[in-house]
Amino acid sequence: MIKVDMTRGKPSEQQLSLSAPMERLGADLNPIVDGIDVRNYGCLEGLASARKLLGHVAGVPMDNMIAWGNSSLTLMYLYSRFLVDEFRSKNPNLTPKWIANTPGYDRHFTITEALGIELISVPMTADGPDTQRIAGILEHDKSVIGMWCVPKHSNPCGATYSNEAVRECAALPNRGNERFTIFWDNAYAIHDFGPEASPLLPIMPEAARQGSEDRIAVFCSTSKITFAGGGIGGIGLSMQNRERFLKHLNVLSICPDKTSQLKHARFFEEPGSLEAHMVGHAEILKPKFRAVTTAFEDMLSGLPGVSWSTPTGGYFISLYLPTGTASQVYQKAAERGVVLTKPGSAFPYGIDPNDEHLRIAPSYPSLAEIEHASRVIAETVREVVADCRSD
Ligand SMILES: Cc1ncc(COP(=O)(O)O)c(C=O)c1O
Repeated sequence: MIKVDMTRGKPSEQQLSLSAPMERLGADLNPIVDGIDVRNYGCLEGLASARKLLGHVAGVPMDNMIAWGNSSLTLMYLYSRFLVDEFRSKNPNLTPKWIANTPGYDRHFTITEALGIELISVPMTADGPDTQRIAGILEHDKSVIGMWCVPKHSNPCGATYSNEAVRECAALPNRGNERFTIFWDNAYAIHDFGPEASPLLPIMPEAARQGSEDRIAVFCSTSKITFAGGGIGGIGLSMQNRERFLKHLNVLSICPDKTSQLKHARFFEEPGSLEAHMVGHAEILKPKFRAVTTAFEDMLSGLPGVSWSTPTGGYFISLYLPTGTASQVYQKAAERGVVLTKPGSAFPYGIDPNDEHLRIAPSYPSLAEIEHASRVIAETVREVVADCRSD
């Protein structure tokens, strides 16, 4: 039996090799930058060149950025903890709450769950979050202090928020608790498969226009650009919040790893080099995504209750199934050697209320494995749906 693991959205070895020259670059670099020896302590906010690179990726001015370690999730954890501690000190008897746009990213939910925050699930629309419904929640419940968003090639449905959705998101903080903050995780900001991908409107200028810039935190990293376990991550905040958060980071560490920041900044120093590098990723990823959607089109078109997303970038496809069948498809596909992300993982507390969603992560296995796995998944869906209809 051919075994294919599609549980996580990891870059493949071929993708990692695109950044191998960056590693070789490391040994030859002059470690003194702007009078700072990157090998030594200091420069808590990160090197200017790294802040410029991450600001360019995230769509945030470099002055608003902090460049930190390899994981943007760490920054999300720290910033949500920072908010929740503040909320609890002022409201010791209230449970803090958070909006989860669903289906969403399981690790986001893990962070808020670990901090004892109650998650409110709001189903995504095709254009982005259901801002009308969220505004209603915020107006009635002043203990909602945050919201998870993946605005570009979202994990897992692949949607990019429309300009209108970005503007409406930027307006939401004006409807809620004074601490309500949007966590704008731009993890797939520049991860387009080609020119057909729609651009994302940068949220910070919109927030500045609507007076909500203190209530937005933008995140990004190079995890899916260079090395998932050895990249650099950043957070973009209003100047006032940046100063406050730097004081918090100062308690945690003397400085981030600036040697990695320098390598990244130098690797992408040439204008256009970052964009060319992302074309390299797209050339590897696009055929894998096409293999999945081609198999689904050939084998699942017209099947009642079955549909899937066709993203123009990012790392995931969402497969929607008739109510009550996702767990069966997951189980049967696993018995046939194809392991998917657990059903329910794209929802708070790991529970998909309709048991209808599966996340497909085609990046890591080889193209031949993906072609095989897609057919196995499609065959399994056909069988499970046929069984249900004959029941
Ligand atoms: C939406 C999203 N955010 C963040 C991450 C992880 O980011 P990092 O490696 O910077 O911690 C992922 C990884 O899959 C992701 O899909």
